[in-house]
Amino acid sequence: MSNLVNHDVFQQRINQFLQRQLAQLTVNDKKLHQAMSYGLLIGGKRIRPYLVYITGDALGISLEDLDGIAGALECIHAYSLLHDDLPAMDDDDLRRGKPTCHKAFDEATAILASDALQTLAFNILAHHDFSDAIKSKQIKLIQQLSTAAGYQGMCGGQALDLAATDKAINLTQLETLHSLKTGALLEASVLMAAQCALHITKQEQQTLKKYAQLVGLAYQVQDDIIDITSTQEQLGKPKGSDLAANKSTYPALLGLQGAQEKAENLLQQALQALASLPYNTQSLAEFATFIVKRSH
Ligand code: IPE
Ligand code: IPE
Ligand code: MG
Ligand code: MG
Ligand code: MG
Repeated sequence: MSNLVNHDVFQQRINQFLQRQLAQLTVNDKKLHQAMSYGLLIGGKRIRPYLVYITGDALGISLEDLDGIAGALECIHAYSLLHDDLPAMDDDDLRRGKPTCHKAFDEATAILASDALQTLAFNILAHHDFSDAIKSKQIKLIQQLSTAAGYQGMCGGQALDLAATDKAINLTQLETLHSLKTGALLEASVLMAAQCALHITKQEQQTLKKYAQLVGLAYQVQDDIIDITSTQEQLGKPKGSDLAANKSTYPALLGLQGAQEKAENLLQQALQALASLPYNTQSLAEFATFIVKRSH
């Protein structure tokens, strides 16, 4: 992560923003609040916030405006991980180098913490102190996030993932699954930031969308690869979890080398898309490269 430009700065920035959001909540149930903090604040690469900040920064949007978008996306992501690890889904015991939320607390608390993190995401978007120029986009931002997180996005992808466990699916089906379960939120990270830009053409928005779709898919392809190639220490989550659960993954369908070639191919297409944009897209290009080289 360290070689991504300003990753440390943006990571610290989003962590402080999220800490403030949780600190502002009146604590009624201490255990639930602690489980929310556990799921949201401990660890995490903060990839989605990072994408929001670098996209927005390239388009001249203030970091204060971007905080609300980045914070909302990370709350949705955190909730999705708490659910993903539950016995009813992937049944994993380790996340970000620590016991999963339902292990550290209990299943009911992990489910409620996820529920509360999901609603917190929309609460943040609805209440964020956006600058006047961006206030008119607030409803649109809420629409974008709810679509990306829900049936037509992440949740739909998780359902396809569960349905494809222990089953053979073809490459087209796998691509749809990946694009939804992981791609949708990464795409939203870029497009929600782009939505706030005052002077952006439809063509430029389409190009950013294409970049985000390619990168989003590549991110999950690499996630499947490192499930096999990295160590548990690097991953902070159990190695070989997909194989043990007989998940449909790119390495399962194409072999490890085929999956690596797929990731590289997606990277080249993403870089090509960026080349046509009239902004400084160096950080976006470095991000795309990072995701297919990452080992955790
Ligand atoms: C893990 O997401 C689940 C996927 C969607 C692949 P991340 O790799 O972003 O996990 P954290 O937030 O850094 O722990
Ligand atoms: C999870 O995908 C994607 C979401 C939580 C939406 P994975 O099940 O592959 O994520 P990891 O490998 O457990 O982090
Ligand atoms: Mg899963
Ligand atoms: Mg999982
Ligand atoms: Mg995985």
